[in-house]
Amino acid sequence: MMVAFCGLLLMTNMSASIANPLNDPETIERRVTELLGQMTLAEKIGQMSQHNASEGYAPDYLADGLRAGRVGSVINVVDVDAVNELQRIAVEESRLGIPLMVGRDVIHGFETIMPIPLGQAATWNRELVKEGARVAALEAVTAGINWTFAPMIDISRDARWGRIAESLGESVFLTNELAVAMVAGFQGDDLAKPGSIAACAKHFAGYGAVESGRDYATTNIPEIKLRNVHLRPFKAAVDAGVATLMTSFSDVNGVPATGNEFLLRQVLRDEWNFDGLVVSDWDSIRQLQVHGLTENDKESAFEAATAGVDMEMHGDAYSNHLAELVEEGRISISSIDTAVANILRAKFRLGLFENPFTNPEKLPSIANGRALETAQQAALQSVVMLKNDHGTLPLSAEQLSSVAVIGPLADAPYQQLGTWIFDGDVELSITPMHAIHSLVGRDVDVRYVRAMENSRSRVSEAFDEAVEIAGDSDATILFLGEESILSGEAHSRADINLPGDQAELVRRIRETGKPVIAVILAGRPLTLTNIVDQVDAMLFAWHPGTMGGPAIADLLFGIESPSGKLPATFPRMVGQIPIYYSQKNTGKPPSPDKIAHIDEIDTRAPQTSLGMTAFHLDAGYTPLFAFGHGLSYTTFDYEHIRPSAYEIGPGDTVTISAELTNSGDVAADEVVQLYARDLVATVTRPVRELKGFKRVRLEPGQTVTVAFDLHTNDLAFYGRDMRLRTEPGEFHVWIGGSSETELRTEFRIVDND
Ligand code: BGC
Repeated sequence: MMVAFCGLLLMTNMSASIANPLNDPETIERRVTELLGQMTLAEKIGQMSQHNASEGYAPDYLADGLRAGRVGSVINVVDVDAVNELQRIAVEESRLGIPLMVGRDVIHGFETIMPIPLGQAATWNRELVKEGARVAALEAVTAGINWTFAPMIDISRDARWGRIAESLGESVFLTNELAVAMVAGFQGDDLAKPGSIAACAKHFAGYGAVESGRDYATTNIPEIKLRNVHLRPFKAAVDAGVATLMTSFSDVNGVPATGNEFLLRQVLRDEWNFDGLVVSDWDSIRQLQVHGLTENDKESAFEAATAGVDMEMHGDAYSNHLAELVEEGRISISSIDTAVANILRAKFRLGLFENPFTNPEKLPSIANGRALETAQQAALQSVVMLKNDHGTLPLSAEQLSSVAVIGPLADAPYQQLGTWIFDGDVELSITPMHAIHSLVGRDVDVRYVRAMENSRSRVSEAFDEAVEIAGDSDATILFLGEESILSGEAHSRADINLPGDQAELVRRIRETGKPVIAVILAGRPLTLTNIVDQVDAMLFAWHPGTMGGPAIADLLFGIESPSGKLPATFPRMVGQIPIYYSQKNTGKPPSPDKIAHIDEIDTRAPQTSLGMTAFHLDAGYTPLFAFGHGLSYTTFDYEHIRPSAYEIGPGDTVTISAELTNSGDVAADEVVQLYARDLVATVTRPVRELKGFKRVRLEPGQTVTVAFDLHTNDLAFYGRDMRLRTEPGEFHVWIGGSSETELRTEFRIVDND
């Protein structure tokens, strides 16, 4: 091993451009086979077991396990000395010296926290999302981490679900693109290079469809929908070279994902040829028994191993029972070998055999300011301006003499970071209140009242003071929403209004008659129907992370224009869920003249007068804010949409273009979106599907042509036979600034036969 190590050093010193010879697939396969050949069954099962090492040192039981080769990976150890000690025992004191994978949930940053993933999705910026993951990886490697459990790419169309915060939203295309960007950011161009960590696409699969948005609940997803929606981001991540996948906690069509052979074998291995590592979710193998799929841990180990779970995350079903199952002949040694090969392959790809230890001083350094700048840019581009009546925003520091900053989330450094921030440094957080002070405090009298202890508070004693200050100020900025603890894993809500007495606070402040701006910080889309008319302008900032404050202040005072676009539909009422832009037409589609409202029903009229279409009597059929929506301080005009050809053949590409003009007075970014509809197909298709997007910056008065190439494969879908196909026929395509754009053209795919 030492000789190979020196050889490698020599090679890299000779020329940085020569590819690492140990990293070519054939060499890796040879090394995997050689190593497997030396392993005992116990050592193989050891590789399949991941242990929680959150003690932060090497307790005796763990050290003994490492020496005996009973541990393949550890999770939750973030002290570099502890990691190095665990690696040292594994590498130097175990028989075969196999290094450890060291896993941690680095979800949207490590020390420096980017916006929650849903907020990052609102940037619609591939490069920025990639850079956010890169920064997170560069920070995480200094602690010895070589594996993150991200990106979470469960399609999420239910804002009640707390984990929508961790997702990239409702759209297949947006999730695909940003999943690929995140994988590239975490893994770099070579997993073995210092600064790269293995990514983990999770949770395979369908977790976002939990019934009523209740975390861990059952999912029932017809195979055609699984394939056309939920599986697609995973396929994109696999094609992008994601090193690992994690199973979901949930039951999928009667078989929990962790024991689901259809997903893990048929789709993932047989159809997609994935040769990376599949890890269970936390203890989810033993939970197969709780689901009622098995009688005991031994049967759970059998189901998970048979289905194709390579490694058990925190649990002992594998370590306690796999050997017995092999001895009984119920699990073949070859299937154990396949699982262990998947694990070893990941370790070789990570270069762990050559470089098991972490020396923070030898790692690539992060340029001064890069992490905070990325966090600020990401926050800036993630904020969505939902409403801006009469040009209320931006505020002008020259014209204001005083501003009231009110609300429980104006100065909450921890809360603005969002869910899953185990290692986030709250000391780095700059809150909106502080940022507004530093930006305009010299010219404007900034008066802060928290008004509520937290977002859930029902104590309104401080409202009088807040109203008084608001009444005395030229404008009020209300910082409302939900704390980080109200979203994330196991933090689902059935009511997604602003919690506590926040709506009452808005009503009271409204009465002052002064301009009211609401800035909402939250981990999910909220139903804002009861407050949206009470405010003049509204920014939706998600949980914006470390640099949320400066980003929000810059937007409020017009240093930069808002440019975020919604990655998920905002319902009017919770009962509309699931509501998403890519729905089907139905046989009775609603339209403004074919709906009625419950308050206007004439009880004497015949029933048919109620529209007889697919709508709710009390909510209509439209959302409060559509997918892709987001306003700017300038205006963008779209015109002259056209296809490069009105007819194309299978395998061809058509270019759809439109002209975009910045018709306002300020330079700003716009996220241009392309949607398509397959009008007639052998299975029903959505009324619109996102097929492209570009973020472009335009100076005032500037016009650009924005063009998207659409290959016929980009229009493919799974049909009745569960095979991917593109069918000939007519397609409508739209370009615009939201999913509601009406600027349309069409083309046909003609069958050459
Ligand atoms: C979550 C995973 C996470 C794991 C490890 C589980 O409860 O579902 O997403 O990666 O814990 O922390």
